[in-house]
Amino acid sequence: MLRNAAEAAEILAAGGLCALPTETVYGLAALAENGEAVARIYETKGRPRFNPLIVHCASLEQVGRVVKLDHCARGLAALLWPGPLTIVLEKQEDAPVSELAGAGLDTLAVRIPRHPLIREVIEILGKPIVAPSANRSGKLSPTAAGHVVAEFGDAVPVLDGGPCEAGIESTIISLAKSRPTLLRPGAIPAREVEARLGHPLQAPGGGIEAPGMLASHYAPNAALRLNAQAAREGEVLLGFGGTDGAALDLSPSGDLREAAANLFSHLRKLDERGQPIAVAAIPEEGLGVAINDRLRRAAAPRG
Ligand code: TXA
Ligand code: MG
Repeated sequence: MLRNAAEAAEILAAGGLCALPTETVYGLAALAENGEAVARIYETKGRPRFNPLIVHCASLEQVGRVVKLDHCARGLAALLWPGPLTIVLEKQEDAPVSELAGAGLDTLAVRIPRHPLIREVIEILGKPIVAPSANRSGKLSPTAAGHVVAEFGDAVPVLDGGPCEAGIESTIISLAKSRPTLLRPGAIPAREVEARLGHPLQAPGGGIEAPGMLASHYAPNAALRLNAQAAREGEVLLGFGGTDGAALDLSPSGDLREAAANLFSHLRKLDERGQPIAVAAIPEEGLGVAINDRLRRAAAPRG
């Protein structure tokens, strides 16, 4: 465990990796401009190289050095940053970001996170960092410092910022296309982004546009069955809204915000029992859209 933001910044400045808290999930951080450190992120996570990373900045000025900010992006930034919104934009030619982080695309995904500790680290460095979720590729995202330790042990020092407020990854939109497009539902409901944008977001077309959209992702070790009304023989039940017989409930009162915050940690706890997991139905509205997206990928056949 790291003692403070300064210690984390020191490791990153020297080309090392560490895990940092954000308001969504814990991120595995490296200095964005350091190609070797970025390569080590891919190795550590076992992440396919075609899956680009999100660049995290502390100020709009810094974002402007990474991507070309248009009128639309500035408007959203003013309303929703710092916060769990990631925007894909055309990359600046001289962006202080290793080619590897963008996986060879001419766009980059950027966000200004809200958690004070990661922002403090970026401010000390004075440079952007890249940070995918701090889990092995395809597995459950970490929403507490202990989850990162369980995944990587001593290999990755962690700055503990407490449990993540949102508990589900950022919403990703692309403004690099002819029309604003939703690439990944996340911690800000798409409706809210649309309201701020003043028009609807396009659904992503065919093909994998954000590789977090791979069918199998966010997976526990156990098999997962969705929209369950009760546990079958040998299953443990993850409930919602006070489901009878649930081993754990995402939100006994049926609050989607609470359910999102509990999603990955509850799946992790149930996974430890080594039994198949049945999950109660979650309403497909507001944050429920992002929760159901993660659950469907967690339940998908493993590649
Ligand atoms: O909440 C979050 O976004 C967390 C915290 C740590 O900030 N990070 C996170 O990163 O979820 P990761 O690497 O697990 O997911 C990043 C997603 C991937 O699905 C990736 O394909 C997509 O962002 N992405 C990154 N750059 C992109 C680009 N240029 N175009 C399209 N998608 C991109
Ligand atoms: Mg991830």
